[in-house]
Amino acid sequence: MTLFEVRNLGRSFGGIQAVRDVSLSVAEGEIFSIIGPNGAGKTTLFNLVSRLYDADSGQIVFAGRDITRLAPHRVVELGIARTFQNIELFENSSVLHNLLVGRHCRASTGFLSELLFTQANRRVEIEHREKVEGIIELLDLQAHRNAPVGGLAYGIRKVVELGRALAAEPRLILLDEPSSGLNAEETEDLAFWIQDIRDDLGITVMMIEHDMGLVNMVSNRVLALDRGQVLAVGKPAEIMENPRVINAYLGG
Ligand SMILES: Nc1ncnc2c1ncn2[C@@H]1O[C@H](COP(=O)(O)OP(=O)(O)O)[C@@H](O)[C@H]1O
Ligand SMILES: [Mg+2]
Repeated sequence: MTLFEVRNLGRSFGGIQAVRDVSLSVAEGEIFSIIGPNGAGKTTLFNLVSRLYDADSGQIVFAGRDITRLAPHRVVELGIARTFQNIELFENSSVLHNLLVGRHCRASTGFLSELLFTQANRRVEIEHREKVEGIIELLDLQAHRNAPVGGLAYGIRKVVELGRALAAEPRLILLDEPSSGLNAEETEDLAFWIQDIRDDLGITVMMIEHDMGLVNMVSNRVLALDRGQVLAVGKPAEIMENPRVINAYLGG
């Protein structure tokens, strides 16, 4: 079943066509990677999907629903969460607090029940805690749960950001260069987590990534982007042997 689809999407900045007539579709349960040289338009594509930018043309469809003009918080509520190329967390707050913030979109109790601190509200609070504790366990963050994020090693902060996105309980998660800045061992852990996220949590994954070893290991399909346009889509091995893809990377 197709979970996510982009049709003829376009966006330019001044004279630069960052994303040009891009179409793609992702099946539920897929790990779908996007590769391409710097400036290819990969992050812009994610920014269009998470609705930080407006598209100039085209359509974005998620779970059968047109989300092209939806507000960003509605996109998260519907089930698309993301991480950023440059980590975006509350640096002075603890890991636990950052993950609880990630649950914000799932906060269903209203102002009045908060005021009265009802039984129902307490139940919801406990539910949030349990969900977050589950993520802390999944990502092996127990040792850091009360530490301020700003003091943690870069590799750990990347994992916390992944956890914050998972806390939103997405159906689709967008990861922008999850392995950048990680060492070989951390990248290996990441590969297993990405597969766990799909296999155990049932979350579909779209990932922008430069590490071809990681792409090759986890991806069902890979899309190569160059100068805002789709060069090729296919199985990892096909894409890595594709002369047009090789050429784009070598800048020939
Ligand atoms: N907010 C913006 N304002 C102006 N130009 C932008 C903006 N965001 C992206 N671009 C331009 O769009 C192109 C694609 O950028 P980006 O999507 O970040 O590429 P990638 O993530 O593939 O490296 C680049 O030329 C970049 O300078
Ligand atoms: Mg980018």
